[in-house]
Amino acid sequence: MTSASFHPATGPARRTVVAAASAAGLTAVLAACSGSDDDASSDTGAAPDSASRDAGSGGEGAGAGAALATTADIPEGGGKVFPDRKVVVTQPAAGEFKAFSATCTHQGCAVKSVSDGVINCPCHNSSFSITDGSVQGGPAPKPLPAVQITVSGDSIRLAG
Ligand code: FES
Repeated sequence: MTSASFHPATGPARRTVVAAASAAGLTAVLAACSGSDDDASSDTGAAPDSASRDAGSGGEGAGAGAALATTADIPEGGGKVFPDRKVVVTQPAAGEFKAFSATCTHQGCAVKSVSDGVINCPCHNSSFSITDGSVQGGPAPKPLPAVQITVSGDSIRLAG
């Protein structure tokens, strides 16, 4: 005698939850305001960024027409090279400002420094007068070309 007892598989009562996704339709709320709603960029509310007008680090990313330097940046009897603008500004005498191309006429290196009344090219040691850009030493064949600047108040700008 075999008594086979069958246990009906009691499967888990599956509760089918039908999430009635209430399709909320497409209610496109068009908040169309017909006014041009661009951001009125007023400068007055901006936080004052560090006013980097002091002499010293010449790292200003100045655009065209922006001041190149202030007169206080240029030492009397010397000058300062502005590599970004490829120009060197000098003050051979008090209140007299000149500017020259910072590209050496020898082989096109950028002049690097101004000392002892001359503008120095580091590549082959040419030197140029801070007064008129003329060659004072080294292999450079020609003077540094003059660059036009305007000085208004204490602000020095490239002309044109
Ligand atoms: S490139 Fe200036 S001295 Fe040669």
